[in-house]
Amino acid sequence: MGINKDLFITFEGIEGSGKSTQIKLLANFIKTKIRKKVYLTREPGGTKISEKIRKLVINDLHSKSNSLTELFLLFAARAEHYDLIKDKLNKGYIVLCDRYVDSTIAYQHYNGNIKLEVINYIQKLIDKDQKPNLTFLLDINPSLGKERISKRSKKKDRFDKEPVNRMNKIRSAFKKIALLNKNRIVLISNHLPKAVVQANIQKELLRFINK
Ligand SMILES: Nc1ncnc2c1ncn2[C@@H]1O[C@H](COP(=O)(O)OP(=O)(O)O)[C@@H](O)[C@H]1O
Ligand SMILES: [Mg+2]
Repeated sequence: MGINKDLFITFEGIEGSGKSTQIKLLANFIKTKIRKKVYLTREPGGTKISEKIRKLVINDLHSKSNSLTELFLLFAARAEHYDLIKDKLNKGYIVLCDRYVDSTIAYQHYNGNIKLEVINYIQKLIDKDQKPNLTFLLDINPSLGKERISKRSKKKDRFDKEPVNRMNKIRSAFKKIALLNKNRIVLISNHLPKAVVQANIQKELLRFINK
């Protein structure tokens, strides 16, 4: 892997784990230090239609909604978004995406009732030839994550209000997924100051690029 190869990097982790903070810092590092074009995006979302679907999923669905409705909306958003990601990679951008397929597996499979085969099957229809090359899983103790969210200025949505026990379940799910994908997923502890965490992420990115 060299710097001129496709670089599709995803950030995963529970709410309050520091994804949005660290992804922005890494985008800046790539632009200023690695001097590559960066495209920063997020899921669900990233395109006009997918951002509309995001609003549906976050604001209008609720815990009693049909889980297949949620799954299909998430994949509809991803199918749209994927074409954009592919286009940016083709144009030489490093694409950084806040949440991607591991979130679907953690939330809809491990913490939901969707079979893993179903998720893998639909995911393959979307990205048969372009998977994330590298994933940073940000890990945080849910109580600390909640405490940090409570200080965040952004309005709280249904995911920000999740109870600690559910956050713990999803945290364990992400860790299981990381163990099963050791070649792609790097676990990053976010219990330290932001700058220290960012330095660890940069080090891992450089190690990956120089592999
Ligand atoms: N290492 C850190 N130390 C202290 N506060 C942090 C740290 N990382 C993130 N935060 C703060 O915690 C809150 C949640 O972080 P955020 O990046 O929004 O998480 P996520 O996008 O994963 O939900 C934000 O207010 C952010 O500024
Ligand atoms: Mg965020």
